[in-house]
Amino acid sequence: SNKGLKDYYQSYFPVGAAVTPRTVEEGPEAELLRKQFNSLTAENVMKPQPIHPTEGTYNWEPADKIVAFAQANGMKMRGHTLCWHNQTPDWFFKDKDGKEVSKEVLLQRLKEHITTVVGRYKGKIYAWDVVNEAVPDAPGNIYRESNWYKIIGEEYIARAFEYAHAADPNALLFYNDYNTESTSKRDRIYTLLKGLLDKGVPVHGVGLQGHWSLTDPTAEALEESITKFASLGLQVHITELDMSVYPKEHARRERRDTDVSTFTPEQEQQQIDQYQRIFGVLRKHKDKITSVTFWNLSDRSSWLDNFPVRGRKDYPLLFDQNYQPKKAYWKVVEF
Ligand code: XIL
Repeated sequence: SNKGLKDYYQSYFPVGAAVTPRTVEEGPEAELLRKQFNSLTAENVMKPQPIHPTEGTYNWEPADKIVAFAQANGMKMRGHTLCWHNQTPDWFFKDKDGKEVSKEVLLQRLKEHITTVVGRYKGKIYAWDVVNEAVPDAPGNIYRESNWYKIIGEEYIARAFEYAHAADPNALLFYNDYNTESTSKRDRIYTLLKGLLDKGVPVHGVGLQGHWSLTDPTAEALEESITKFASLGLQVHITELDMSVYPKEHARRERRDTDVSTFTPEQEQQQIDQYQRIFGVLRKHKDKITSVTFWNLSDRSSWLDNFPVRGRKDYPLLFDQNYQPKKAYWKVVEF
């Protein structure tokens, strides 16, 4: 068939993939991208560390290459990410003597970073993950104890959205997080977002990362998240969809002898069923879901091959190691 995911889902939402600059070089991956997807996210190269490694130095080339590919192929481009606790260089938080900077200095650095990055891609990136993973997993606190929070306080979140909005008033601005179907984390993210909206902060959407497993989330839990966030008037993007064939673990750890890589017929069937269920839910809520992006392209290479267990292979996507559609793919496009 000549149809791709983007065609089957044309009247639902754009379907995207996270890519590296190498993915978009001519070859089977670029070909698969063009056939199947109409939206892209940079897997790493727009994050603070790669794009702004030292104060005053920006490394645009890798990001530009992905943006150029999206433009040349008529694809949408999402930006990921402006403010996060990971993949952010230490220089943001330290002065020349290695001492922690003041709140004023850090806000100034955040502003300069966001203004420059969003400004460069103004009109080319239609949606930004402005703040990523600011809410912790453990019940209790709304705010993760990141350097951003410790030095600036909760205000860093509102400021980040304001800086991004000033740099590109037409860009849609998202709060992005994982584990958004856990009741406790869902409620704390909701409280955070409601507080921002009540203060008039320019937040337009919530990104559900969608690092899911064969059993999580249930259809009910996913629906509850989608409807709860949409009730705030926010768009919902699924930003980083993949489905590990292993039980969910969030903490990174070393490989053990018992960690064997498996994709048994049972795991395969569970994955087919879970993909079918999840896309049923996404289609049902097409008035709220305005983008669905997979985190990587095929089972040939996924970030889950090393996370949370170093060196364990995973099989989380809709295309196999030879870029062929898996059985789950055909369930996702049959409706
Ligand atoms: C991951 C990338 O896929 C890896 O290549 C990198 O080593 C670590 O980050 N949540 C996010 C993404 O918001 O940026 C992360 O991407 C996956 C989890």
